[in-house]
Amino acid sequence: MEFFIDTANMDEIKEAKSWGILDGVTTNPTHVSKESMPFKELVKEICKIVDGPVSAEVVSLKAEEMLEEARELVKIADNVVIKVPSIPEGVKATKMMSGEGIKVNFTLVFSPMQALLAAKVGAAYVSPFVGRLDNVSHHGMDLVEQIRTIYDNYGFETKIIVAAARHPIHVLDSALMGADITTMRFEIMKMLFEHPLTDIGLEKFLQDWKKAPQKGGVK
Ligand code: E4P
Repeated sequence: MEFFIDTANMDEIKEAKSWGILDGVTTNPTHVSKESMPFKELVKEICKIVDGPVSAEVVSLKAEEMLEEARELVKIADNVVIKVPSIPEGVKATKMMSGEGIKVNFTLVFSPMQALLAAKVGAAYVSPFVGRLDNVSHHGMDLVEQIRTIYDNYGFETKIIVAAARHPIHVLDSALMGADITTMRFEIMKMLFEHPLTDIGLEKFLQDWKKAPQKGGVK
């Protein structure tokens, strides 16, 4: 299972990379709006340091215009993936992009039918936004389970990116359900490492070590 970081912040990306577990990055217009670097420059910088797919989102609402944006964005680096919104024009655009060999991350997915459409038009990735469904009293992870079943039934190769993850349990459930990837904010990725019993256990070992005989060595 792969871990993507959901951010456009270079410091967070560099730190996550240093942990050795980073497989890719998903940006979106909201993340980009928080950074000072212009969009394309930022994508270029991220692509330089990340050895894996980097999603950059189009903002046009017409298929032809989305395609033009995508053609420009993929020139930035080989690992750029184009995020396309789950609207009818987005489906059309995805079909055109996949026909040109452009990898698409079909985003803002909230129903299994949207995910099926994404697979039918050749999207490389589909992004169900589980946390946003939870926010409106739907079980976001049920959607992931349905998508997994549909894709497995027909052998679709579109990879499932569990998006809008809100806590480590979303990551755990993603792994248990066989989702391919979870994309998560920096804070959530950090939480994956933490357990209070590890901290308590380590503290005790270090305290006890101070009492252990320190002289002499292994012969
Ligand atoms: C995914 O690719 C999106 O960028 C992201 O997960 C959106 O989630 P949010 O609800 O945390 O903004």
